[in-house]
Amino acid sequence: MKLQSVRGFRDIFPPDISKFQRIESVARETFEKFGFEKLETAYLEYEEVFSKSLGADSDIVHKEMFIFTDSKGRKIALRPEGTASVVRAYLEQGFHVKGSEQRFYYIGPMFRHERSQKGRFRQFYQAGIEILGNQGPRVDAETCFILWQIAKKLKIEGLSLEVNSIGDQMCRPKYRDALVAYFEPKKHLLCDDCKNRLATNPLRILDCKNESCRAIAQKSPVILDYLCEPCREHYAGFKKYLGLFQVPFVENPRIVRGLDYYTRTAFELVSKEASYLGELAGGGRYDGLVEVMGGPKTPAVGFALGIDRVAEQIKEELASSKPLVCLIPLGTEAEEFFVRRLNDFQNLNVRILIGEPSRSVKKQLELADKLSASYAIIVGTNELAQGAAILKNLSKREQSELSWEQLLAKLKNL
Ligand code: HAM
Repeated sequence: MKLQSVRGFRDIFPPDISKFQRIESVARETFEKFGFEKLETAYLEYEEVFSKSLGADSDIVHKEMFIFTDSKGRKIALRPEGTASVVRAYLEQGFHVKGSEQRFYYIGPMFRHERSQKGRFRQFYQAGIEILGNQGPRVDAETCFILWQIAKKLKIEGLSLEVNSIGDQMCRPKYRDALVAYFEPKKHLLCDDCKNRLATNPLRILDCKNESCRAIAQKSPVILDYLCEPCREHYAGFKKYLGLFQVPFVENPRIVRGLDYYTRTAFELVSKEASYLGELAGGGRYDGLVEVMGGPKTPAVGFALGIDRVAEQIKEELASSKPLVCLIPLGTEAEEFFVRRLNDFQNLNVRILIGEPSRSVKKQLELADKLSASYAIIVGTNELAQGAAILKNLSKREQSELSWEQLLAKLKNL
């Protein structure tokens, strides 16, 4: 049998991997700037962590989780998202006892058994944040600000931040009734999934990707007309702070999010130019989740950004990292020289690669070109004797002979 990757899974390698690394480093830097600490939760969880929190009839729990049975017959799931795991860890590690606001971030793979198509992978990567213990609308706007900052730093164009409030357990039942009254007479036009959703969770019909369901949903009642006073106030506060943070946004009263735990604020970052990829990030408030998972009442808000989808939107040159310098030894003595001097490069903002001394200078330079190296440092017997080296600028095709110290000084100023 020919060995190959599992269907729906993929390897990520150069040059794409550099985009992933760039997104991760921008996300990490931005999260840390706003006081978030990294939480690395396990990739495997007991299945209830997700079925209890995301909703038994959510697409993820219903049909997208990778579930295995352990030797004791317990169901184990590969994590399909990060929020439920963070809350499980928050409670298990006793973070909730501190009582104050806590900020966590995560960057890593998630797993969903989705149909493979553009922008949908079975193993995909998220960078996300969660703020636990703060109910004020400022933090909802702050999470949007952080998301917007990341998108700006990555120079992604054509983006729109769409926001909504989906109410809470006080006002949502009335909205649910209004949706049932609207969809019931049109039930025969809905897809089979939505026919079921009408009984289990009619809000989710608004999230259906099926063309005919979307067309019917266009004219359905909107949640904003049903919000109770506290939810209305919270939503107004959220929008006020978005203005203060200077985050541009558009209201989209049809955003409902696909997971059960959301209350009030819901938002999605969409690319107008690449809507086929699906939304680039999504999040919102989940004030009831900590309690549902066995903890004290704790308001919370967060988002996750899809790294795979954002990578599709990044321009090539942005992803390029530090300049590559190829060290080209002409013979083993020169190779040993480079090995002895490797420490000299540790504080320079460059990547280095030592060439193969048995190969000709021509072959080594060809390889340097192929790897898009910026510089080559050539050392042979003559240079060793003179304590010098040849520094070749590969893009300008210029070269000069320098002392080792002069050469290091030059690389320092790149
Ligand atoms: P989500 O909307 O399910 O929310 O996922 C967030 C992002 O992950 C999406 O906007 C998308 O970019 C990416 N994503 C989801 N599924 C896939 C896939 N199959 N392939 C590629 N990318 C994908 C959550 O996961 C929530 N936990 C977000 C959150 C955090 N809410 C509050 N805190």
